[in-house]
Amino acid sequence: MTVKMSNLRVLKQSLRIYSKCILPRPLFHCPHRAFSFSTPTLANRALIFRSNGNPAEVLSAVTYPTLPPPSPDQINISFRLSPINPSDINVIEGVYPSKPSATTFFCQGHQLENPVFVPGNEGLAEVTDIGKNVKGFKKGDWVILAIQQGGTWSSAKTVDAKDVIKLPSSFSEVNAATITVNPPTAYNMLHDFIDLKEGDWIMQNGANSALGQAVIQIAARKGWKTLNFVRSRNDFDALKSHLSALGATQVVTYDELSDKAFRDKVKGWTGGKIRLMLNGVSGRVTTAMMRHLGQDAHIVSYGAMSKEPLSFPTSLFIFKNITAHGFWQSRWYHNKSKEEREQLMENLAEMKLQEPEHEIVTLPGTKSDEDTAKSVQNLISKMSEGKYGKKVLLKIEGPAD
Ligand SMILES: NC(=O)c1ccc[n+]([C@@H]2O[C@H](COP(=O)([O-])OP(=O)(O)OC[C@H]3O[C@@H](n4cnc5c(N)ncnc54)[C@H](OP(=O)(O)O)[C@@H]3O)[C@@H](O)[C@H]2O)c1
Repeated sequence: MTVKMSNLRVLKQSLRIYSKCILPRPLFHCPHRAFSFSTPTLANRALIFRSNGNPAEVLSAVTYPTLPPPSPDQINISFRLSPINPSDINVIEGVYPSKPSATTFFCQGHQLENPVFVPGNEGLAEVTDIGKNVKGFKKGDWVILAIQQGGTWSSAKTVDAKDVIKLPSSFSEVNAATITVNPPTAYNMLHDFIDLKEGDWIMQNGANSALGQAVIQIAARKGWKTLNFVRSRNDFDALKSHLSALGATQVVTYDELSDKAFRDKVKGWTGGKIRLMLNGVSGRVTTAMMRHLGQDAHIVSYGAMSKEPLSFPTSLFIFKNITAHGFWQSRWYHNKSKEEREQLMENLAEMKLQEPEHEIVTLPGTKSDEDTAKSVQNLISKMSEGKYGKKVLLKIEGPAD
């Protein structure tokens, strides 16, 4: 934003759009604050969708008032960074099994005419106010949501204290903002299915994804070797160097799978003993990768970025005794206690993983809701065209920031 507008002007503009487009006047009030139309306190903003569809079409933005003090068992939090993950896009499209709850208000007493959904499953927030019964938190603590689809694409919200996890202080801001989804998935898939020993081989596709990079680093810390597949690209050598620096043992492209000599190459590296395969891509290349698995190996599928089905050669089940599993981190969180989730965060903090390659995209408070929505729609269009090779993290400012 190059043109600076005074906060008051922007607030009035936002309020005009807000009240005109969304709210009949009697429905928009926040009794905990002295709120009036002449001195609006629209300090916050959320990205929303009203119905499922293409995110580049259905996403919009709304402003809402300063949060009132939390009730006794709640805390107020303000989001610092909220990633856009592939599953967030799927949630908005309506093709993901979990989805945010519909909401008709953003703070106690504030009311929307029709329910909306706030996307965002992951994000780093800071505690800004604490209910009088809440113990163990202080203002400024960094927290993440312990609930799924908590609506992290917003500037601030009030949550039940039991629904947040305080983070160890050793995380960087970007690591903290990206710690809920990919590193835990990588960690659990590497620990929950087989008992890997030092020197064991793991094979994975999509190795340059944020998740793949977490797998490489965790495996390297444990002395496990990784055979990493990525799509071919002009800057393959640079990518290979980057992944090798993270701890990758071998980095290759899927193109190699069609080369007959590749089988011997893999045997030479691994002794034909790849014990675990992690699959986030599916489709034809994944089936071709499976042929390099060792006896009694396990395949864990967690994604299908190719949007193709996964097909298994029957012979692998018969002659190699392969076992296939699926993994969903949301299910893990659902089945585990808050203490187990906190322990997982401690384990990950100890590993000191490198930040995923990222770009922080600020949605300035000085923009109107309409312009904010347009920016996000354009951003997601570019992402879907593969024009962002890195994790995008949103910094959503409220209009009064
Ligand atoms: N099951 C779970 O609990 C769980 C948890 C976390 C993540 N996931 C899934 O894991 C996957 C990766 O997530 P992320 O956040 O790490 O993503 P990310 O950093 O955005 O990376 C996306 C990856 O997908 C690859 N890709 C995209 N389209 C592809 C295609 N048509 N064929 C082959 N590869 C393709 C990209 O390769 P290029 O660089 O070549 O484009 C890149 O490696 C997603 O499917 C996500 O939903 C699942």
